Amino acid sequence: MMLLTSPLLWLAAVPSLVHAYSALSDDTLKNLPRGGDDFDIHKGKILAPILRTRVSGTPGNAAVLKHFVDFFTNSLPEWKLEFHNSTSTTPTSNGKQIPFVNLIATRDPPGSQVGEVGRLTLVAHYDSKLTPKGFIGAIDSAAPCAMLLQTARSIDKALTKKWEAMAAEGTMDLDDQKGVQILLLDGEEAFKSWTHTDSLYGARALAEEWEFAFHPTASTYRTPLDSISLFVLLDLLGSKGSKIPSYFKTTHWAYKHLGAIETRLRKLGEFKSSPNYPVKVAKRKNKKPRGEPRFLTDADKPEDKIYFMGGAIEDDHLPFMARGVEILHMIPSSFPDVWHNLNDDGEHLDMDTVEDWTRLVTAFAAEWMELEGFFEAKKAERGEYVGKTEFEIP
Ligand SMILES: *[C@@H]1O[C@H](CO)[C@@H](O)[C@H](O)[C@H]1NC(C)=O
Ligand SMILES: [Zn+2]
Repeated sequence: MMLLTSPLLWLAAVPSLVHAYSALSDDTLKNLPRGGDDFDIHKGKILAPILRTRVSGTPGNAAVLKHFVDFFTNSLPEWKLEFHNSTSTTPTSNGKQIPFVNLIATRDPPGSQVGEVGRLTLVAHYDSKLTPKGFIGAIDSAAPCAMLLQTARSIDKALTKKWEAMAAEGTMDLDDQKGVQILLLDGEEAFKSWTHTDSLYGARALAEEWEFAFHPTASTYRTPLDSISLFVLLDLLGSKGSKIPSYFKTTHWAYKHLGAIETRLRKLGEFKSSPNYPVKVAKRKNKKPRGEPRFLTDADKPEDKIYFMGGAIEDDHLPFMARGVEILHMIPSSFPDVWHNLNDDGEHLDMDTVEDWTRLVTAFAAEWMELEGFFEAKKAERGEYVGKTEFEIP
């Protein structure tokens, strides 16, 4: 980044430092790729390999990590992969050091300099809880991990196209130093019972390291922590009927963007978990619209009516939040019934809800990265109704 000395130039440069964000068209929203068979809980290429026990430091954990690495290496070679490794004893390790491995997958604009890219950072944890024995953790957080892989895959080609177009126009340097990053974190769960030291092993180690991993002097972003424009943490997603409040006043603007996408997808008849999803309505004798539920329950409320309880839920964002990172926490309140019990497995996922969440996150990432116009036009899937449905969003 150049030092800007003229005030006029400085002013001109400001909009690119503020959150540029642009909505997708209806057509693009409707045609966002679907995970389809890859989300099958038994055979799906993306989700099934995560649905196993994967306690930190065990072979199951290493196998899931390898699945992520293989996924990016084979399908998304433009994403840069890094491991962040740490070790710690735990209350159940009898003094032994347990390894924790975070995977960081990053896609930055071509030719960008380290320290000049601000990143949308999408986060989930991939370890599973030690107890009860055999615990799978489908919503916690196998499904969120799968959503992030699918999001990366869905926006990958559009990112390439956009950056190619910008390079061709010569608009690359000034404007878009905007990247996207996925953090798949290890060691979120407590081994014995949740305390500040028995939990968040991977997140704590990563935030500590990134705080002092200085970029070259005079960089726009001083450290990799600084480079996080927004830390979007997904957790406990995939049960039917979950409601997600807005936790942080400072990121409520981003929450509202997600809420707007939800409203639009529902009105377009694209929300599979909706009782008004066209295929479901067609099967019903009484075709009258039903009350439309809402994931993001605070999206349309006046701000002074929202109780922002950010930080009250302890999760992987805490060590980042403590260092000033802006957080968007996508976790239901209250927690789904299957939380931390053996029912949290693949069979108890609501796959329509998983798909809807995936599309929400994909659309949000696409809007953040301003990808309208760079998705391949695609015919709607066979048998899918793509017209508008009529109902009121409460
Ligand atoms: C970090 O852990 C991964 C996975 O176990 C391993 O492949 C990698 O070599 C480790 N990196 C370092 C620097 O130790
Ligand atoms: Zn958990």
